[in-house]
Amino acid sequence: MSLVEGFLSSSERLAAPGAARPVNRPLRIALFGFGTVGSSVARILAESSPEGLELTHVFNRGVARKRVDWTPASVVWSEDADAVLASDADVVVELVGGLDPVGAWVRRALENGKSVVTANKKLIAFHGVELERLAAARGGHLKYGAAVAGGIPVIPGLEQGLAGDRIERIEGILNGTCNFILSKMEAGAEYAEVLAEAQKRGYAEADPTEDVGGLDARAKLAILMRLALRVQVDPEEIVPRPITTITPVDFSYARDLGSTIRQVSRAERAEERLAATVGPMLVDQRSPMAWSRGTENMVIASGRYGGDVVFSGHGAGGHPTAVAVVSDLLALAHGSRRVEIPSQPARVGGEFELPHYIRFLVRDRPGIVAAITGALAREQINIRAILQKPGYPADALPFVVTVEPCKSSALRRALEPVRALDCMLVEPLDLQMLE
Ligand SMILES: NC(=O)c1ccc[n+]([C@@H]2O[C@H](COP(=O)([O-])OP(=O)(O)OC[C@H]3O[C@@H](n4cnc5c(N)ncnc54)[C@H](OP(=O)(O)O)[C@@H]3O)[C@@H](O)[C@H]2O)c1
Repeated sequence: MSLVEGFLSSSERLAAPGAARPVNRPLRIALFGFGTVGSSVARILAESSPEGLELTHVFNRGVARKRVDWTPASVVWSEDADAVLASDADVVVELVGGLDPVGAWVRRALENGKSVVTANKKLIAFHGVELERLAAARGGHLKYGAAVAGGIPVIPGLEQGLAGDRIERIEGILNGTCNFILSKMEAGAEYAEVLAEAQKRGYAEADPTEDVGGLDARAKLAILMRLALRVQVDPEEIVPRPITTITPVDFSYARDLGSTIRQVSRAERAEERLAATVGPMLVDQRSPMAWSRGTENMVIASGRYGGDVVFSGHGAGGHPTAVAVVSDLLALAHGSRRVEIPSQPARVGGEFELPHYIRFLVRDRPGIVAAITGALAREQINIRAILQKPGYPADALPFVVTVEPCKSSALRRALEPVRALDCMLVEPLDLQMLE
């Protein structure tokens, strides 16, 4: 038995990252990435000195630009990833982002028996299962509480507080940029002007496709599905729909229907069917999702035994996200073991059975409504209401049809001949209505 092992009982050895850390020694932390979140993590560690944590290394490219005078003098600042990975740090906190070269660094850290804490949703959505296996095999831990909904403890909530339930549906607002844009449009702004404001404030990237196209949210949804629905899905099987098709007229009709519009990420298991989707949807004004404004995030987990649990708060930003990272570090330092939630590989479809809002923009002529109602009837879809606001020109007339709950596939088939009508000025917009 080595001297170090002599400090540890077998259960402590299981819990301690790197397996060889003496219980009385603080957890040595190597921070990879000193950007928005990384510098906030360092700030919290410097200001509130959480017990059992010690920042020992900061790695970043061009590190001279990054160096600050408020971290302990003992911290090693480096732009040599290999040297930091070979150091005596117990935990690598990965806050660089992306898949390459970060994936290789994380693998190397885990192979060396270190633990890894990350906020990187892409890495976890695409490689989380494999990395968790590697961590377990080498005696380390992989924690990613900040990877979904930033500062909101959704992941620890699912791993600990809700592990005793059987979650049947998980839905929510997982992208702060889209929520900022849509809640501003709700108040009357146009898409392009709000996007420009979001970019100016640093909420949206110069290329906003990952956010507005739903790719960011689907990676997060895939992570939540693993912990909530216990399925391992390929994020690319979740078909996202962009928010760019939403216009002010949709908010006006939504208001008349007692609703508003949000980008919602949604996954459910019904009978043997597993379905997931990300896109703009109508949400009831009384739903918690309608209350969430600006860059807030919200997640609702619906359990068979416990019913609905709502998580909400700041889904992004340096400090809120850093809180989740530091909380993961404290959990490691205090040896708390996560509940192992078993999950199985699964295929995911997009079939939901919900009411829909369908908005048409047409050059008006007789027979349009008859053609639409006929197409819906052929698929056994019942119409709930037809709404047409006054004041629009006949050569660009928006109107809305809402339908009773129907299968997504049946609606798609019904709309096929409708979208080919020569009076249609744009693709009909169909949105799920959450009630
Ligand atoms: N920001 C948020 O609100 C938020 C919320 C939740 C999760 N996250 C996740 O947290 C992670 C970090 O996000 P962030 O907003 O802090 O990003 P960031 O501000 O861009 O910081 C990334 C840092 O990593 C450095 N870096 C990038 N590529 C590098 C490389 N190849 N080698 C060495 N250093 C490199 C950057 O240096 P340079 O200064 O030279 O570019 C920068 O300091 C991402 O995975 C992100 O998805 C962020």
